Amino acid sequence: MKSFDLDSAIRKIPDFPHKGILFYDITGILTNPEAFAWCIDRMCEIYADRNIDSIACIEARGFVFAAPFAYRMGIPLVLVRKAGKLPGRIMKKEYSLEYGRATIEIQASDILPGQKVLVLDDLIATGGTLKAAVELIEEAGASVADIFGVIGLPFLNYHDVLKGYSITVLQEYYNE
Ligand code: PRP
Ligand code: MG
Repeated sequence: MKSFDLDSAIRKIPDFPHKGILFYDITGILTNPEAFAWCIDRMCEIYADRNIDSIACIEARGFVFAAPFAYRMGIPLVLVRKAGKLPGRIMKKEYSLEYGRATIEIQASDILPGQKVLVLDDLIATGGTLKAAVELIEEAGASVADIFGVIGLPFLNYHDVLKGYSITVLQEYYNE
C-alpha cells in the first residue's frame, strides 16, 4: 500500500478546548477523501489476517472511522455510547476524565463471550476512555484483539493506562 502523509491532513488547533492544549483535529481527515480512504484502507490491511470478530467503537468520533471499516471487513459494529443513549439491557462503566467523571455503555447482547474484539477510538490521549471500554468488553466475556487509534498522544501516558494490551495508531505526536 502507498504511504500517505496523514499528518498534513490533521489540523492542529492551539488553546482548544482549554488554554495551553493543542487540539489534534480529525475533521481535516474527514474532509479529505484521499486521507480518509487511506486510513480505512490501512486499517483493513492491518487487520486483514487478525481474525477480528467485531469492532467496538467509542462515541462520537470513533464511530466515523469504525463504520466504513466494519462494512469493508464484513464484521459487526458495536457502539460504545455515552450514558443514557442505548435501550435494553446495558452494561456501564464509569471512568475519570481530566475534570470529573463520565460513563460509557454498551448493549450487553452486542458482545458475545469468546469473541475477539477490536476496540477503536479516533484519538488516544490518557487512554481512560478506551480502558473503560476494554473493561466492559472483558466483563461481557470477550477478549480484546487490539486497541486502535487514528491518533496517539503517548506523552499523556496511555501506554501505562492500557498496559498489557496491543495498541496500534496511525499517527503519533510527541509535543506536550
Ligand atoms: C475525545 C476523543 C477520545 C477521547 C480521548 O472524545 O475523541 O474519545 O476524548 O481521551 P482519553 O484517551 O483521555 O480518554 P470526546 O469525548 O472529547 O468527544 P467526542 O464525542 O467528540 O469523540
Ligand atoms: Mg471521542
